Amino acid sequence: MKFIKSVHPVAASLLITAGLPKDLNINDPTSIKSVTKTIAAGAMSYYKGDATKFVDLDAPYYWWQCGAFMGSMLDYSHYTGDTSYDPTIATALLAQRGPDNDYMLPTHFGQEGNDDQAMWGFSIMAAAERNFPQPDTSAPSWLDLSANLWNSLVSRWNTTACNGGLLWQIFASNPNGLDYKNTVSNGGLFQISARLARATGNETYAQWAEKVWDWTEAVGLIAHDYMVKDGASSSKNCTDTNPLSFSYTAGIYIHGAAVMANLTGDPKWIDRTERLVHTTSLYYFMDDTKIMHEAACEGVGKCNTDMRSFKGYLARFLYASAILVPSIAPTVNEILSASSAAAAQSCTGGQDGTTCGQKWYVGGFDGLTGLGEEMCALETIQGLLAGHATPPLKGDQIKVVREFRSTPASPAAPAASSSSAAVSNKRGARRARNP
Ligand SMILES: *[C@@H]1O[C@H](CO)[C@@H](O)[C@H](O)[C@H]1NC(C)=O
Ligand SMILES: *[C@@H]1O[C@H](CO)[C@@H](O)[C@H](O)[C@H]1NC(C)=O
Ligand SMILES: *[C@@H]1O[C@H](CO)[C@@H](O)[C@H](O)[C@H]1NC(C)=O
Ligand SMILES: *[C@@H]1O[C@H](CO)[C@@H](O)[C@H](O)[C@H]1NC(C)=O
Repeated sequence: MKFIKSVHPVAASLLITAGLPKDLNINDPTSIKSVTKTIAAGAMSYYKGDATKFVDLDAPYYWWQCGAFMGSMLDYSHYTGDTSYDPTIATALLAQRGPDNDYMLPTHFGQEGNDDQAMWGFSIMAAAERNFPQPDTSAPSWLDLSANLWNSLVSRWNTTACNGGLLWQIFASNPNGLDYKNTVSNGGLFQISARLARATGNETYAQWAEKVWDWTEAVGLIAHDYMVKDGASSSKNCTDTNPLSFSYTAGIYIHGAAVMANLTGDPKWIDRTERLVHTTSLYYFMDDTKIMHEAACEGVGKCNTDMRSFKGYLARFLYASAILVPSIAPTVNEILSASSAAAAQSCTGGQDGTTCGQKWYVGGFDGLTGLGEEMCALETIQGLLAGHATPPLKGDQIKVVREFRSTPASPAAPAASSSSAAVSNKRGARRARNP
């Protein structure tokens, strides 16, 4: 499909060596794979788990971001065909399923919100839609885990105020309290409902997708201009709309709408998808250059650790949506090609010249580093390959696969070994900069 038309000979994809992001050619799949191999390694340098053991991310990263990060790595595997991280991803996703197989973890009850659960949900849903290997015969399938997670989320639909909606938080003990209804939580339920509807054909999920969309619009959290606002208070019956907007909530609703459009073919859903994408392309992308930015915080230098990863989810969901709704593909291609080129030029920091920065519009590395910065660049650049990956599966295409697929070993090319040595130095470089 759209993004990269020329498909290179199969052999090319088997011999990818890690390359420097600054050399990215956005029109060459081999170059994209080579650059994303480097950035994926940079991102994975933050994760201490492996194929046999889950290890949560170190502070300041919250548990939810680990689930979201595994989603970035699932995309890496799916788009590039480099399956070398697959066992690590599967181990992490299975380790966090919790005693009820629904991603409610007693050890995280102090912090787990509906949005956190949903972020893990996006990843297991992607695993289901791709027949990603699930090696543990004692655990449910990715699809069943997703359905369990959905049951848990939907059980908290709360009609005490605002005529419905999920609160942000689940536990009263959380200092954030039980008063805020936000779009990341409700968008999470919306998108997972839509994806389960498409994956299973079960009408109940489609009805919930309709219901959550309608609720979000009715309380004004999807505004008339299709800006997705952050949230509103239950105690004010959701009349005090928070004017802030973040890129990932737009992405979350876009993908839910795109899945509904693809499932139903209904012009209503196609229209909603197009309008959301249009507004998003204006608000989160620079007017002249079309470079993506986190509008609420980058310009004023106030992006917190969470916010530093948000652009990655917008990129992820825009690419995934363009596969399903062809009419948005030209816009998505334009804005994410420009953003990919800029992101690559920001990944020129650190001793080895491959650490990614935050503000892509400055025209190079800006010195702001972290897992979020790596994830944003990774999702944005690897998604250029989305057009020739298998579209999300559904119905009886979805199967439980136990065996991992192997990535044929690359020959020991000098470029690969020098680059991986450089990547392993990165943490030292980061520590020196951010003691
Ligand atoms: C709260 O808002 C909902 C719509 O969002 C409305 O139907 C309901 O009447 C409002 N309740 C009160 C007490 O104002
Ligand atoms: C559809 O999903 C709902 C919600 O999980 C479930 O209660 C219902 O049994 C499912 N229907 C069918 C036909 O599988
Ligand atoms: C429903 O929301 C209200 C606030 O509007 C909150 O006080 C209550 O605890 C919530 N109920 C549940 C089950 O979370
Ligand atoms: C849904 O997406 C698939 C996969 O890209 C595509 O082949 C199909 O044409 C789409 N259907 C609709 C109704 O857009």
